[in-house]
Amino acid sequence: MRGGERICRVTVHTHDVEKAADVLRSGGLVALPTETVYGLGADAENPAAVARIFQVKGRPSSHPLIVHIGGAEQLDQWVEEVPATARLLAERFWPGPLTLVLRRGHRVPLEATGGLDTVAVRVPDHPVALALLSAFGGGVTAPSANRFGQISPTAADHVHAELGDAVDFVLDGGPCTVGVESTIVDVSGDAPTILRPGGVTREDLEAALGRRLEVPETSSTRVPGQHPSHYAPRARVVLVEPAKVVVEAESVRELGHKVGVLLPASLAGTPVEAHAVVAVPDSPTAYARALFGFLRDLDQEGCDVIVASLPDEEGLGLAIANRLRRAAGPRGSL
Ligand code: TXA
Ligand code: MG
Repeated sequence: MRGGERICRVTVHTHDVEKAADVLRSGGLVALPTETVYGLGADAENPAAVARIFQVKGRPSSHPLIVHIGGAEQLDQWVEEVPATARLLAERFWPGPLTLVLRRGHRVPLEATGGLDTVAVRVPDHPVALALLSAFGGGVTAPSANRFGQISPTAADHVHAELGDAVDFVLDGGPCTVGVESTIVDVSGDAPTILRPGGVTREDLEAALGRRLEVPETSSTRVPGQHPSHYAPRARVVLVEPAKVVVEAESVRELGHKVGVLLPASLAGTPVEAHAVVAVPDSPTAYARALFGFLRDLDQEGCDVIVASLPDEEGLGLAIANRLRRAAGPRGSL
């Protein structure tokens, strides 16, 4: 049984950061660490470089990207206007796992926004990403560095395994500390709306704003994280009540499947007959950090079915449950 956290420090040398900035300047692609997941970065103002991102990911070019910038004070350069709500959230949560959707400024090419008049912007909270943004000087559009619909990478190894030579340079900043993507809040309209739950909790956003926030069940298909199937391992994911995980795993096994189990913390130590068992950490922070790695590991071990349950949907549990539901969503609907 495995589980828990893997944290180590990786030293990135200044010359690597300089080299990565040069790659961006020449229109290349750089995989960069952030606190959430690894991103596949390009110069936000270079439409040809942005087009390569879509090609490498196999992502439809109508799906908008996030522009990463080096500090909240740069926000005005990228958007038409900054409403008071956006300013407040940027000052409170940046650098950090929060993406703000605002009206697009002229500096952002339509290629980066999938043709939309809004743009998603964030300041990542990772020293290597911030060093790169500072050395480069501009904005870096970066979706998660995985193929479209697959599991987001939370370590440099995942990027190498999935994208290989398609990336010009990979900056290794160690394992991501948050582990799920940023929370996306649309502040371009009258009422701020959470488009995707993520690393900043709904509770923290509501406390900062002093109001309740909507989390729409379904949203525009322009938001791929909102497709029914996304963040998906190869194995089929089956979600059941925590108390039924062991019974379900064993009956799926009896049908001849190689079953992987995400064993809820409430069942820690319970014996289960399965191909691979991962003990889910009790703390939502540790679970979020490890979730995508667990799914990757179970795929790697040859599981064809993963049995799991949803955590309580409060705090980071909301983002974890969202990713698990989408991993379990109907396939072939992308
Ligand atoms: O944590 C993260 O957000 C990571 C790291 C690399 O920063 N990035 C990430 O990017 O998750 P990606 O492309 O996998 O997801 C970005 C999400 C998509 O669901 C996209 O549709 C949404 O942001 N998005 C981007 N621009 C938007 C816009 N103008 N309006 C609504 N949604 C937008
Ligand atoms: Mg993604």
